[in-house]
Amino acid sequence: MKQYLTIDEWSIIEESFNPQTQEISESVFSIGNGYMGGRANFEEQYSGHSLQGSYMAGVYYPDKTRVGWWKNGYPEYFAKVLNSTNWIGINVEIDGVPLDLATCSVTAFRRVLDMKEGTLSRSFTAVLEDGKEVRVESLRIVSMVRQEIGAIRYSIVPVNFSGTITLTPYLDGDIKNKDSNYDEKFWNEVEKNAEPDSGYLTLKTKKLDFHVTTAMAFDILVNGEKLAIPAEAIQREKYVGATADVTVQAGDQVVIYKYAANVTSRNYGLGQLVEAAHSALHSAREAGFALLLSEQAEAWKAKWKESDISIEGDVSAQQAIRFNIFQLNQTYTGEDDRLNIGPKGFTGEKYGGSTYWDTEAYCVPFYLSTADASIARNLLIYRYKHLDKAKENARKLGFTKGALYPMVTMNGEECHNEWEITFEEIHRNGAIAYAIYNYVNYTGDKAYLGQYGLEVLVEISRFWEERVHYSADKDKYVMLGVTGPNEYENNVNNNWYTNRIASWTMEYTLEALAYLQENETSRYHELLDKLALQVNETEKWTEIIAGMYYPEDAERGIFLQQDGFLDKELIQVKDLPPEHLPLNQKWSWDRILRSCFIKQADVLQGLYFLGDRYDLETKQRNFDFYEPITVHESSLSPCIHAILACELGYKEKAYEMYLRTSRLDLDNYNNDTEDGCHTTSMAGTWMSIVHGFGGLRVQQDRLILNPSNPGHWTSYAFKIMFRGARLNISVTDKQVTVANETGIPAQITIYDKEYTVDGKSSITAEGITVTA
Ligand code: BGC
Repeated sequence: MKQYLTIDEWSIIEESFNPQTQEISESVFSIGNGYMGGRANFEEQYSGHSLQGSYMAGVYYPDKTRVGWWKNGYPEYFAKVLNSTNWIGINVEIDGVPLDLATCSVTAFRRVLDMKEGTLSRSFTAVLEDGKEVRVESLRIVSMVRQEIGAIRYSIVPVNFSGTITLTPYLDGDIKNKDSNYDEKFWNEVEKNAEPDSGYLTLKTKKLDFHVTTAMAFDILVNGEKLAIPAEAIQREKYVGATADVTVQAGDQVVIYKYAANVTSRNYGLGQLVEAAHSALHSAREAGFALLLSEQAEAWKAKWKESDISIEGDVSAQQAIRFNIFQLNQTYTGEDDRLNIGPKGFTGEKYGGSTYWDTEAYCVPFYLSTADASIARNLLIYRYKHLDKAKENARKLGFTKGALYPMVTMNGEECHNEWEITFEEIHRNGAIAYAIYNYVNYTGDKAYLGQYGLEVLVEISRFWEERVHYSADKDKYVMLGVTGPNEYENNVNNNWYTNRIASWTMEYTLEALAYLQENETSRYHELLDKLALQVNETEKWTEIIAGMYYPEDAERGIFLQQDGFLDKELIQVKDLPPEHLPLNQKWSWDRILRSCFIKQADVLQGLYFLGDRYDLETKQRNFDFYEPITVHESSLSPCIHAILACELGYKEKAYEMYLRTSRLDLDNYNNDTEDGCHTTSMAGTWMSIVHGFGGLRVQQDRLILNPSNPGHWTSYAFKIMFRGARLNISVTDKQVTVANETGIPAQITIYDKEYTVDGKSSITAEGITVTA
């Protein structure tokens, strides 16, 4: 853990310049708006280590797969989120010498991510090799209101000299993905134009024909006055810019406002791109930077009104949860149902910006509770639209029926190519089914089942039916050759979680069928026809549900992660020399696979999902056995452990796990934040407060709360939307207060006692020792 950022309630602050942490900061300070975003690269040139990154949601490249041995069923490509035109660049020269923080002495450096208002700022004093000193301040936004717009205010004051400051704002499309399989560039130039105060660049991807037009315009002011500074337009391949020489006296302030618009062929016809970019650009420039800033602050105010969590008495925990919520809100806004949430959002290339089971297992609950139900519904419909591709995928692998959703996807096709994950980590199908349950259970929108949900459930159940088989030896249904959520085991037999989620899916599918038969009879019959669902199929599911094999150890009273788990040498993580961690950077894969060490919640993931089916003692025995051998080397791990630890009353463990999930990127726990932030796991952090400390569940149309206080906090409060009502739930040591901010009443159970919270009123559950 390397804590170098200043603790603050609403901001992430870095107070000195350190080239060693530059790439970590580039990830942490990233900004975006759901439509586009990028890493916190410097505007001016920087010759030190840096991962330049600017991304447009949904614009990707099918990079030809690179594998040692081709195996039937491998996907043709691995989808890469595309590093797109760098629109933030403003190079600066001081009397002909580049301003480059890698080559000058930097003092008074401060970088701030203001999460309340959605801005990224930076200030520093730099002394160049020739002794000239400048004071620089920059302020940047990616607009939450005008999704295509980014804007920068960049100011320079020559402190101890008079001379010439040369500014070169530019657009650079000559960029490469760091993770390109064959070291190729993915973009071709289509057209460009550069003028003395503006320019544009259209690029298209070498495959799939995505077009992106980026247009920029800028204004230069000296001491507050806009000057008609003669600038010279520059053009070269995939690059446009303009260079302006500004003559300055010591103490003058030179400010450049740079506006950029990014539009893509996902939203416009090819012939409309340039005009669309210019129209967005001109209206932003006309509005001016100050108005863009105030719009931004208003937009974030509204987001915080719906999703803030406040924590009193622990600023580090407060900062962390706001950071997680901020990143989630700037990664996915739910307005475009073709988009999803990549594990790194707009903060890096790793994991290709593609969709993983992370969305259903971790992100759906966050959006369900903090936004209109249509947003989570869009995430579900995304998978509905991919159903045909998921069926195709199952056929490719030799299944005669059913659907296997991809482990990693952009457009519904599988684009992950490690056999042990692509072919074996099939539990993702279960998470997709579970998200349907979660959505219907939380929102009460049962109509979703008839509209979209049932088709997905039936095809997933069909897949499970064919994937299990009857073992005469065990007289049970078994599932061989899988990888569970714990990716530190591959090709195992009877992974408890996978068997459990498979039979649960069949059970829920039968329940959904029964619901439709009774309540939407004509739609039910329509769907039976559409799906050609046979009675012998549903009978088979019932048989599998009753006869599924679940490995367990009766003596210890635990479920076994897989057959033979107890043959392993059982060593606890606390007994490992610290220098062996993280295992994935220190140990060979062979050693990891043979060991008992667990990457992330596996059995415990099942006990969290299906929490209402297991008693506390069962959860406790399994937690006590598995947590001590879990290394939490997936960012998705600590949050599930935090939630279960809360339920079990393990307050210190819950708090430890909370800090680990919430400060994962801020403190670079897993030593990999320079690749990008762990955006999808941030939803898990939110879950660890709301489902963990808040104890929120929804059962039979009622909101259930069982709050606890980790003991390090004076109080905490979170907001949730539930069936149209927005509730502010605050928890102190002695009481739980629920304030209903809307006019719609809500039914709530707090510690087994039932309440109705009328519109615009609040209730308090008192006489409680929350910390007991
Ligand atoms: C985890 C997976 C997860 C992926 C993307 C991996 O490290 O083991 O469960 O889907 O990261 O977040």
